Amino acid sequence: HKRRESIFVTMNYAKDYFMRMMQISDEGKSLGLGYFKNRKFNGDTINTFDLGYSLDSWDSLEKDATQKGYTIEALELAGLRSENEKGRKYDRFRGRVMFPIHDLSGRVIAFGARTLKKDGKPKYLNSPETEIYHKSDALYGIYQSKDAIRVKDRCYLVEGYTDVISLHQAGIKNVVASSGTALTEGQIKQIKRFTNNVTAVFDGDAAGLKAAIRGVDMLLQQGLNVRVVRLPEGEDPDSYCDTLGGEKFAEFLKKEETDFILFAARLYSEEAKNDPLNKAEKIREVLKSIAVIPDTIQQEIFIKECADVFDISVESLINNLNEIKQREI
Ligand code: UTP
Ligand code: MN
Ligand code: MN
Ligand code: MN
Ligand code: MN
Repeated sequence: HKRRESIFVTMNYAKDYFMRMMQISDEGKSLGLGYFKNRKFNGDTINTFDLGYSLDSWDSLEKDATQKGYTIEALELAGLRSENEKGRKYDRFRGRVMFPIHDLSGRVIAFGARTLKKDGKPKYLNSPETEIYHKSDALYGIYQSKDAIRVKDRCYLVEGYTDVISLHQAGIKNVVASSGTALTEGQIKQIKRFTNNVTAVFDGDAAGLKAAIRGVDMLLQQGLNVRVVRLPEGEDPDSYCDTLGGEKFAEFLKKEETDFILFAARLYSEEAKNDPLNKAEKIREVLKSIAVIPDTIQQEIFIKECADVFDISVESLINNLNEIKQREI
């Protein structure tokens, strides 16, 4: 485990370097700090999340690191270097604002790095998988949020780095991000150490909503109580929190949050309108979600609610649910 330890040390150094460059270099102050100021992130927030800036240079990190005794090999093992087809090596992160990703104990295990260019691609360049970073296990914000999650006995689930940070700054500190993908079992286990209650905050657009709904099944399967809030079209938690202000946004979340199964049932029922075949299809979609819930009493409660929403008998829903469960075995 000496190698893992060395990667942790190297990542911590790199985090400090990026923070320092943002605070003391002219480029970092104007581009990095300037960017975060534009997004209204204050100094406390920048420190809480260890935000930094990588200079627009092929080797500034390499030079500083090797001067301080870190080897090139250590930088490579930490995923801080890249290599082109011709075998030329260079600093991976250049001219980007840096979002360190921490593990539960606060150690930096990876970086997300945002371009400053309007349509720069990729928007976020992330660390590659390393010996200490397994993308599917990392949960952005869990270190900064875990105490608040325990105290509030609820975890807000958002999509992006800046969503976590904005909500935190607005005083909603029980929040983590899936980083744009469906949650894995490993990530959910981390949440479950602190609460059984999750509220997923969905972007408003229809395509994203469908993907997000399927992503919730894993939460249900792990026995979490899932509520959802749908944002207005075109907004994400960061932008909408900015629009409403923190206090109003917190009220909005409290007022709008709906039990997930009920939310899905209403959404699907509305979509199906009065087309019977479509309606049958949509009912089965909701039943699939209910089928993964481990608690059978909860299942029964949801079945009754769905019977109401879809105006269909409880018996027929239960028959269908049992069919789905059998198919799954
Ligand atoms: P978004 O595109 O919604 O970005 O992706 P964002 O978080 O709102 O960022 P801003 O406000 O434009 O700066 C949501 C999340 O998906 C992951 C990141 O974790 C991002 O925060 N993502 C997105 C990537 O990893 N790479 C990408 O190129 C884009
Ligand atoms: Mn720190
Ligand atoms: Mn998005
Ligand atoms: Mn977004
Ligand atoms: Mn955003």
